Amino acid sequence: MREEKMRCEIVVLPGDGIGKEVTGEAVKVCRTLASLASLDCSFRWGDIGGRAVERWGVPLPEETLTLCQQADAVLFGAVGGPQWDTLAYDLRPERGLLQLRKALNLYANLRPAKVLSPLIEASTLKREVVEGIDILVVRELTGGIYFGAPRGIEITEDGEKAVNTMVYTRQEIEQIVRLAFELARQRRKKLTSVDKANVLEVSELWRKIVNQISAEYPEVEVSHLYVDNCAMQLVRDPRQFDVIVTGNLFGDILSDEAAMLTGSIGMLPSASLRGRFGLYEPVHGSAPDIAGQDRANPIAAILSVAMMFHYTFHRPDLAHRVERAVEKVLAKGYRTPDLQGPYTTVVGTKQMGDLICQEMEQE
Ligand code: NAD
Ligand code: IPM
Ligand code: MN
Repeated sequence: MREEKMRCEIVVLPGDGIGKEVTGEAVKVCRTLASLASLDCSFRWGDIGGRAVERWGVPLPEETLTLCQQADAVLFGAVGGPQWDTLAYDLRPERGLLQLRKALNLYANLRPAKVLSPLIEASTLKREVVEGIDILVVRELTGGIYFGAPRGIEITEDGEKAVNTMVYTRQEIEQIVRLAFELARQRRKKLTSVDKANVLEVSELWRKIVNQISAEYPEVEVSHLYVDNCAMQLVRDPRQFDVIVTGNLFGDILSDEAAMLTGSIGMLPSASLRGRFGLYEPVHGSAPDIAGQDRANPIAAILSVAMMFHYTFHRPDLAHRVERAVEKVLAKGYRTPDLQGPYTTVVGTKQMGDLICQEMEQE
């Protein structure tokens, strides 16, 4: 009897700047994996961000949203660039990504920061501080100050006034906090909830709900940190952290900080989830300063493919295969320019992608 091939329908949204370059390598890795594991992977491409503004007049065209809604998973690059920074808020490339997250209800953003052993020396922090760190930032992604109303800039009698609103409902907090407890339970059973409860009512509610839900997870050790202290603790002693759960804005900031512990922002992948459906993207942006030069590190995008096989396709074996290949290529001394150090061989974006594919094939 012929074995049924696993089908994976993937939509690729390269976006702007290095988004195009790094998703190109991510797709390459995906194709290699598909041929090695006999998967039936299909890819469809869509426009988003500045590129979509140029072609369609909006940062998230209907066509792109429909494509995503029909797929199993989305591979996303990055959006934005200085040429679009002066556009009206609703036309800005970043707005396309925010609309997509909201429309697909991707409320949970998982950003794992792990230090791979070949990169310990690449971190700006000392070896003894970063060795062995394995942190999962769970960021709420469809609420908070990013989406709260009212918002906007108005001209008043006293001059210009700008307003944003931080708002969370019990339901929004409960769903992200519960997921974070579930994830912590499967890991080292330590959950740190990060807020600003000494100043914000939103955080007061957040903290109360974390404490209530913690009663359902007696095996998980919970602590609370104010966000300013957390930012400091992340560089002082990052190994104290297992899972960090926090709101949209704090999670955005802390995950860039956590990324740097791993050696480069070009290393950090992410998954934005609603159940099994997910959008997978590197944590970094479109890096206009290095776009089009074959200098971008594609590993964050490639590790996002690993997360896709883990969380959407439930194939941890394939996820690990990608992760092992990345680690082996780094162990051989190959580095993109963001990571170079002594005794390394500097390679471009494309060559890094090729080396990772070759390593997977040779396994
Ligand atoms: P950025 O992450 O694009 O770049 C910050 C710095 O890190 C730059 O020096 C850049 O060269 C470097 N860098 C980033 N990714 C890299 C990689 N893969 N390899 C090597 N170096 C890398 O952040 P920014 O400069 O603040 O923002 C640039 C644009 O990207 C803005 O328009 C911003 O809104 C947008 N942005 C988009 C996303 C996203 O699409 N998810 C995320 C962050 C920023
Ligand atoms: C990220 C980015 C986005 C965010 C921007 C581009 C809207 O910084 O994914 O971390 O703030 O969520
Ligand atoms: Mn960010």
